[in-house]
Amino acid sequence: MTDVVASAPGKFVILGEHAVVYGKPAITVAIDRRFTVKIRKGPEFMINNEPADINQNPHLKYISSLHDSVPVSVFMDSRIPPGSGLGSSAALSAAFSMAMRTMNGLKTDPESIARESFDAEYYAQGRGSPMDTSTAVHGHGIALNIPNCGEKLWTIDKNSNSWDIYGIDIPQMTFVIGYTGIRAPTGPLVEKVRKYKDSNKFAADVIDEIGDVTLEGMEAIKRNDLVRLGELMTHDHKLLSILGVSCDELNKLVDVTLPYSYGAKLTGSGGGGCMISLTDRPDEVSKAILSRGGVPIIISTKVEGVRASMT
Ligand code: MEV
Repeated sequence: MTDVVASAPGKFVILGEHAVVYGKPAITVAIDRRFTVKIRKGPEFMINNEPADINQNPHLKYISSLHDSVPVSVFMDSRIPPGSGLGSSAALSAAFSMAMRTMNGLKTDPESIARESFDAEYYAQGRGSPMDTSTAVHGHGIALNIPNCGEKLWTIDKNSNSWDIYGIDIPQMTFVIGYTGIRAPTGPLVEKVRKYKDSNKFAADVIDEIGDVTLEGMEAIKRNDLVRLGELMTHDHKLLSILGVSCDELNKLVDVTLPYSYGAKLTGSGGGGCMISLTDRPDEVSKAILSRGGVPIIISTKVEGVRASMT
């Protein structure tokens, strides 16, 4: 019997999370932590050898429903902590889409996987941008809605928003991730920002400002200007805090790493999850994160996107 194995990377956000939901620019990088799935046909839907209810797995349910095939047994192995802001569910969606398409002999070009996995995320979360799924598909670094920053990959539209997605070169930079250990699902945090934005002009201005900061951050990346990029990241953390998506644990990890960093901020949806520090002193940053009860994650970034193989 033929199994298909597919995997996709997690990600962190240099700048632009939450504002990207409204079509503002964002910059992300794939990390060397992958979500791997192995699928095998029938006789019933199973996860890791146990019969499972597909309704409890909306990403898998959505993608399975697109493919007229017998049920699959899914084996999952993830190195991305769930609810950590590191793109675990996007990596699952991209890997599962790739695996199902490979098994069913369908197109597996990156754009098709990016569209299908974003639709699965949107179905599961009820909201959001194609940032995480496009990063999981392309790997390396991507930018959204920043013209002339790299090779245009694809455009994705949803409701009244449109995102042009570019593959970008990320120069050699050292980032350290600090994980609070707090699991924080994305959907409710995105919804919290939406309510704030819809009821308060000030929140809409903050979202615009995150967009401006992100555009300037792309210019700093192009110049390899770590000092300016770090300042912009720290400022972005303040703007995200105003939107209500930071928390004490994230603020503590950001504060404790700043003396050894060009800049630091929460990454992903916030509410817990992870922060990142841009630094040339990764050992001191890691120790500082540990000293405040966080888990440092040293990552490398020249990472390949979704891929599959038959076994
Ligand atoms: C989550 O990694 C990023 C958010 O901007 C949500 C999204 O873009 O879908 C908070």
